[in-house]
Amino acid sequence: MIIVLLGPPGAGKGTQADRLSGRLGIPKIATGDVLRAAVRDGTKRGLEAKSYMDRGDLVPDSVILGILQDVMTSPATKKGAILDGAVRTVPQAEGLEATLGEIGEKVDRVLLFDVDDDELVKRLSTRTVCEGCQTPYMGREPGTRCEKCGGRLVRRKDDEPEAVRNRLEVYRRQTEPVIDWYRGHNQKVLKIDADAPVDEVTSRALEALGKTGKREAGSGKRGGGK
Ligand code: AP5
Repeated sequence: MIIVLLGPPGAGKGTQADRLSGRLGIPKIATGDVLRAAVRDGTKRGLEAKSYMDRGDLVPDSVILGILQDVMTSPATKKGAILDGAVRTVPQAEGLEATLGEIGEKVDRVLLFDVDDDELVKRLSTRTVCEGCQTPYMGREPGTRCEKCGGRLVRRKDDEPEAVRNRLEVYRRQTEPVIDWYRGHNQKVLKIDADAPVDEVTSRALEALGKTGKREAGSGKRGGGK
């Protein structure tokens, strides 16, 4: 199953992608995490992306389409994927559709996490993330340690107020049109009220996906579960 997660910065896409990945047994692919790893490793892709990310702008479509091509044709995603923030422009939605078409796949579900701006700003201004595994935390000080992997918690540069304002504007201008693009391509967009406790949002997402039962693996056409 291939699930696209949409929603503004701070809506909880990363938090819910981890939980859905555990429940559904399919990997989370977060382009933000892939790009931050590339920046840390000093790769060509990372060097190209860094200044866009620090300002809160989107990195060029060509970079994202390269990542999507790599991950979606890799054995790691043969059972499907939860795509966290991986589709933020109409050309990216078109490019993903083309890549998936080449391997006989398609997007199965689109989830839209909805949270109002005041709550988003509050979440991002108090967030720290693990330098190692990228797990986000609320109300934990930079320099303390991650519960999952022991990595150091840091503030993200793009969680500074000016970058957050820009990210919200960029979301309205460049990413919201993706919602209508999916609707126009016969894809129901499942809107989740994500201004609720984390467990409740997970339940709502699973319910919207029709997956309220036990953990289950996806069943992609490339061999998963068949
Ligand atoms: P990315 O890392 O994906 O950032 P984002 O989309 O702005 O999303 P965030 O990670 O800020 O928020 P989230 O929705 O994942 O929320 P989270 O779970 O962390 O991308 C970074 C940058 O990379 C982009 O700006 C761009 O430059 C580039 N990029 C990435 N993909 C791209 C693409 N496809 N095209 C072009 N450029 C791209 O939660 C936020 C906080 O709230 C956390 O502290 C969390 O603990 C807390 N929280 C979560 N859920 C709840 C809840 N229900 N109640 C209370 N608190 C909650």
